[in-house]
Amino acid sequence: MASSFGAAQVLVASNRGPVSYAVADDGSLRSRRGGGGLVSGLSAIGPESGALWVCSALSDGDREAVRRGVGEDGVRMLDVPADVHADAYNGIANSVLWFVHHMLYQTPLEPVFDAEFRRQWASYETYNRAFAEALAEEAAEGAAVLVQDYHLTLVPGMLRELRPDLRIGHFSHTPWAPPEYFAMLPDDIARQVLRGMLGADRLGFLTRRWADAFTACCERFAGGLGDTRVGVHGLGADADFLRARSHEADVDERMAALKEEIGEGRRTIVRVDRTELSKNIVRGLLAYRQLLDDRPEWRERVVHVAFAYPSRQDLAVYRDYTAEVQRLAEEINEQYGTPGWRPVVLHVKDDFARSLAAYRLADVALVNPIRDGMNLVAKEVPVVSDTGCALVLSREAGAHEELGEDAITVNPYDVVQTAEALHEALSMRPEDRTERSKRLVAAATALPPARWFLDQLEALRG
Ligand code: G6P
Repeated sequence: MASSFGAAQVLVASNRGPVSYAVADDGSLRSRRGGGGLVSGLSAIGPESGALWVCSALSDGDREAVRRGVGEDGVRMLDVPADVHADAYNGIANSVLWFVHHMLYQTPLEPVFDAEFRRQWASYETYNRAFAEALAEEAAEGAAVLVQDYHLTLVPGMLRELRPDLRIGHFSHTPWAPPEYFAMLPDDIARQVLRGMLGADRLGFLTRRWADAFTACCERFAGGLGDTRVGVHGLGADADFLRARSHEADVDERMAALKEEIGEGRRTIVRVDRTELSKNIVRGLLAYRQLLDDRPEWRERVVHVAFAYPSRQDLAVYRDYTAEVQRLAEEINEQYGTPGWRPVVLHVKDDFARSLAAYRLADVALVNPIRDGMNLVAKEVPVVSDTGCALVLSREAGAHEELGEDAITVNPYDVVQTAEALHEALSMRPEDRTERSKRLVAAATALPPARWFLDQLEALRG
């Protein structure tokens, strides 16, 4: 019986994997490696540990790589048909589950759960089943499987049926919706999502708040948690990596260029986001404009450095949101700019080295999401900033649970309050800023990615 099992002792499953492929002009395949907490976590258990990462092909390049049998050791990419993937990823994961957990609907008109939704849901099931089957095939007897995020909520339950011998964990990198909001989902779908998750032995969340919301949903819609355990693992910043990487030559180059754009002797309010609807970049710009109105003494003396990198551009709402960010930044520059001062320096092309350069230059970090699982930028800027920064932080970011005491807290919807918080941050006494910044760094680095990952693995096996 055991001989029909696979060989992997530790398996990770996520929609986006650690590597992606593109077909070059000459027809060859180019690979690119990604970063993030899971990548450093897996490298911490070492290559000889028999770990396997199961992920989905996302692009034509990825699908071509699967067909040509190109791949990396330790990674299995699933060739989910493009239309099934689009329904599951764009239609359900990003347009329904993401919206529910971040509470993003404009409820007078949406959501509408119609026949089209049901069709897409069937694709979401197919896509989850493809993962469950691949994991069932690859896992050694009694192996640990760590399933990631809202894309794969049905996998634990499906996998449990196929392989009752496995230890199954699931980790949510997003918030979880409170029951009143989760109740918007059709009843059978709400139950299916919760039961899918409850197929796991253990569920992980980034903060107590999201874990409690999940538990409350289970009590209301699924008759409680049953035997499934729930734990909290607050992913921290990778200080060693960030400090080393932010002092490489390409970051120095970007710093010189940014300083030119900012101008001599000016303060900086820095934000860096993937342009997700939950990041609240537009209200951040409105708050900055309010600051320039309310406190004219800051005109010419401060620059808002805003990096808004494209995300999920297949979705029209995301494209429209990015366009609004650009429009508003231009409007502020036209309204307030002078020949020697551009009030907003906005960049939309993803450039990691330039992000680190901005972190180093930050006097104030602005992190004001409507709702956010954690928000690692809030943790990274204090670690990287050359002189220690003040942090303006939304109370709706998961990071607020750990950083709130030394940040300046804002209600993300209140732009007048956010403007005042920016003023307070810019005016903070240097000694105060240094002290707070030190404490922010300590809290931000308390649980580095490798430890975060190993803790989950140990808890699952324990
Ligand atoms: C954000 C969320 C993660 C999620 C990721 C997916 O970073 O915090 O929970 O997994 O988005 O991003 P993608 O670009 O793959 O849609």
